[in-house]
Amino acid sequence: MRYIGNKENIVEKIYIILLDNNIIGNTFFDFFSGTTSVARFYKALGYKVFSSDIMYMSYCLQKAYIENNDIPIFNKLIPLIKQITNIDKLLIEPIDIVINYLNNIPDVKGFIYNNYTPGGTKELDRPRMYFSNENGLRIDAIRQQIEDWNNKGFLLESEYYILLACLIETVSFYANVAGVYAAFHKKWDPRAIKRLELRKIKFHDNKQKNVVYNENSLDLIDSIETDILYLDPPYNERQYLPNYHLIETIAKYDNPLIKGVTGMREYGNKKSTFCNAKTALRDLELVAQKAKYKHLVLSYNSEGIMPQEEIISMLSKYGSVKLEQFQYARFKSNNNGLSKTKKHIYEQLYILSI
Ligand SMILES: C[S@@+](CC[C@H](N)C(=O)[O-])C[C@H]1O[C@@H](n2cnc3c(N)ncnc32)[C@H](O)[C@@H]1O
Repeated sequence: MRYIGNKENIVEKIYIILLDNNIIGNTFFDFFSGTTSVARFYKALGYKVFSSDIMYMSYCLQKAYIENNDIPIFNKLIPLIKQITNIDKLLIEPIDIVINYLNNIPDVKGFIYNNYTPGGTKELDRPRMYFSNENGLRIDAIRQQIEDWNNKGFLLESEYYILLACLIETVSFYANVAGVYAAFHKKWDPRAIKRLELRKIKFHDNKQKNVVYNENSLDLIDSIETDILYLDPPYNERQYLPNYHLIETIAKYDNPLIKGVTGMREYGNKKSTFCNAKTALRDLELVAQKAKYKHLVLSYNSEGIMPQEEIISMLSKYGSVKLEQFQYARFKSNNNGLSKTKKHIYEQLYILSI
């Protein structure tokens, strides 16, 4: 999915560099997991994976991709769907049956339609154009159906998060935004006016008891014990919640108080100290000092707010430090003026071994 700092396209490169530096083990902690791209990669390698993120939308992805090892069979739901609809004989996998059903339920006017589509916000000076009217109604219908099934006991916990993860992954493809949700386009992006079709996610069983958290990861440092501790914090002042407020609201579906042109939800306790140079360095040191690991890897970016010399000098207090870096294409969004001029950027890996 489109997410600032998503390592999907460079995780293999990161892995090869770590391998070349003999950064290997049995356990891997993805401390700022976001889309789970890195956690997923290490899970597929057979590592026992721990992951955490402050955002609930990330937690839903972690539950579905990282903690869950089963192909969902929707034991209780499939008989219910069979009772009320004719199942397409070509659909073999239970998840395909559930997704097909969700793609055909009637529209619902709910929180997303009412607040993030032009039809639902026509009274505003600037009606919001995050989703087309039709897709706002689709998202509300699907999200409410998932919640209703869960409340009525038709879903296992893993199945609930799998369906939420499918929806979270899907909405990215239909949102009328340039990468982040801090603003919407004034004209429709062609992809935003296609009818939303829920897509399924992929599963992988690594035969390990993986553990996921929805925490300020700093609260976990006393309890962490891992071979590789992978840190991929925000690298600039831009907090994640305002950039992904709408995905967070779809994940939580908690009717939050919202305000402003963009209909932003409150931060709650989701401000990251890594979005400020001083507190970032202070908290990075806390992690380096207190967590138990064999190797700590900080993924950072050549334009990050913590200066390179200060990172190296601080980390060197706790072991030997090596810096590796490589060039890659910059994340493009409407908030990022630099993306028009400077197309490349360096990914930096600070490798601390004790
Ligand atoms: C650069 S992104 C991580 C991207 C991730 N590696 C990926 O491939 O998608 C940084 C993440 O850190 C999370 N975050 C920031 N501060 C945090 C904190 N104190 N505890 C937990 N998560 C935090 C943000 O919500 C965001 O998802």
